[in-house]
Amino acid sequence: MNPYLQEYTADEAVQKYVSETAGSGIAYLLHHVYGRVYEEQIDKLIARSGDQIAFRILEYGCGGGMNLIWIAKRLLDRRLKLDFACGTDFSQKMVEAAKKEASSFLPNTMSDKVSFHTVSNENLSRDLPRELGQALAELQNSFHLILGVNTFRYCFRLGKQAESAGDIFSLLQPGGYSVMIDMNRSFPFFRSKLRDRLTKPKDQRSLPSLEQYATVFADAGFEIEMKKNFCWVPHSAGPAMLASLRTLSPLLQSLFSRFAMRSLIIARKPSIQSHSL
Ligand SMILES: C[S@@+](CC[C@H](N)C(=O)[O-])C[C@H]1O[C@@H](n2cnc3c(N)ncnc32)[C@H](O)[C@@H]1O
Repeated sequence: MNPYLQEYTADEAVQKYVSETAGSGIAYLLHHVYGRVYEEQIDKLIARSGDQIAFRILEYGCGGGMNLIWIAKRLLDRRLKLDFACGTDFSQKMVEAAKKEASSFLPNTMSDKVSFHTVSNENLSRDLPRELGQALAELQNSFHLILGVNTFRYCFRLGKQAESAGDIFSLLQPGGYSVMIDMNRSFPFFRSKLRDRLTKPKDQRSLPSLEQYATVFADAGFEIEMKKNFCWVPHSAGPAMLASLRTLSPLLQSLFSRFAMRSLIIARKPSIQSHSL
């Protein structure tokens, strides 16, 4: 049994990844930091394919679905088309929470376009077709944007990082984007790192370097458009911590970017045919 599944099935874990209880930090990051990254990829896709593009988006390891729901809402606000958005997670409890979150925060008109499914990161190609009721061949080369936030480290810990990156590559359209955001192992103040050191074996708390994250995507065939450390606001930050860290962030980023909280890899699947998007 996957040793992390129990952790992410507990009610207290679920509370950390739904908007009501996740903290002010993630709400700020979605609007001002992660959200900007997603919009940049959306804008690049529009620049290439025009604003009639009907987006197909996948978020793996989606937890309570906050990132995917934010993107779906943003597309709606910008009057852009969504063909479909699906979120996957290996924890059924997270998937149920994400479905609830979507029904609370998205209009009914979007309910047939946004769905959540119990699928593990290392079996995307194997299990997503069954969940979506489509053949693998229909799903391959079909997504415009695939994202994973604070979940790819588990692919490494299971030794399945190449499989996951390979599946992401095959599901993306040529010219499509993968956005991977995860913990930066050089950030010195993660509380979870200290707790895990006391309670977990070494292989269950290891964190890849920025270079290791980038290499696995490059080896899968991607062009790496950006690799950097960024973000100085914890997801769980309350209003007071958020207020001071958001003010300090530009200074911290310019002086100490290597020690920021997250690693970001933006990877593009090469366009083999210019008309493919
Ligand atoms: C730190 S949480 C992040 C949740 C969400 N991406 C967010 O940022 O709010 C990590 C998520 O990855 C999921 N996860 C961990 N290992 C996984 C795996 N092998 N396959 C699918 N999901 C996994 C967990 O269930 C959990 O929802």
